[in-house]
Amino acid sequence: MDTLSIEIAKELGSLNGKDYLSSSDISFGQINALLGLASQLKNRKRRIDLGNRTLGLIFSKASTRTRVSFQVAMARLGGQVIDLNAQSTQIGRGEPIKDTARVLSRYCDALAIRTYEHQEVIDYANWASIPVINALTDLEHPCQALADFLTIEETFGTLKGINLAYIGDGNNVANSLMLCGALLGVNISVASPKDFEPDISIVQRARSLAISGASIQISNDPLKAVKGVNVIYTDVWSSMGQEQQQESRRLAFQKFTVNKSFLEEADKKAIVLHCLPAHRGEEISDEVIESENSRIFDQAENRVHVQQALLAALLGGL
Ligand code: CP
Ligand code: NVA
Repeated sequence: MDTLSIEIAKELGSLNGKDYLSSSDISFGQINALLGLASQLKNRKRRIDLGNRTLGLIFSKASTRTRVSFQVAMARLGGQVIDLNAQSTQIGRGEPIKDTARVLSRYCDALAIRTYEHQEVIDYANWASIPVINALTDLEHPCQALADFLTIEETFGTLKGINLAYIGDGNNVANSLMLCGALLGVNISVASPKDFEPDISIVQRARSLAISGASIQISNDPLKAVKGVNVIYTDVWSSMGQEQQQESRRLAFQKFTVNKSFLEEADKKAIVLHCLPAHRGEEISDEVIESENSRIFDQAENRVHVQQALLAALLGGL
């Protein structure tokens, strides 16, 4: 193994058998090592074979990227995925998590769970004896944040001191961006309509993690937030589970469409990110998604590479 791979293995060894439920579950060194490993895997400088391990997917919400990227990541690691959705298992008929988690731990090597209540992934993790990965809850989307910061690092060659403006709903994606960004030394400025700001307890946690001096700012002024930034990030105005609020949210978010005028305020070399799926014409214009500033499809690709690195670390394959 080369020196970099040895350093990465040393840093990630402590993640063997652990859960990944929140962006704040891992340290600065571990995130950096995961991004380093993801980059090695992406550039085919490294191959990891986990020897036919099995990841169970329990998804209570729709997914294209997360589902497919986990399937592809496991295949590339020589493993497989079992789809355990609620409709075709006893989960949908109310079998308690404490039973399901213990039984699945006897069959699978890890679980990736997408659900509503964050407490549900915590409960699975408490009862399972295998690693549990948060594949999105109402509170966080930590796998997404890893792909986001890999994309930013690939573009600028660094993360420390990068200025990122998140425009829109203070949701799960915003929460994980703040926590992960704070650890990595990225300055994050979130601009949301009044009453749609991120949860104050997450903001405070992010600020307490920002020991490297990163700033976490919250405002209601989107054009001011993007001034001079390196990265503009946005996400849907109504997340999964908020479909009933779509109309009222459209009204509240009127001034928060990321369009060309936002790019004009940002740094000349600024990039635009969106976790996808996007509602073109709502939170982002078609023109911006298709612009040369957009790294949105690289960002989507990076889900495979970071999740491959994460699975290798949690399953002790380094
Ligand atoms: N970004 C993301 O998680 O996409 P999916 O909902 O398609 O998985
Ligand atoms: N905030 C969005 C992200 C989708 C990947 C949602 O939760 O629906």
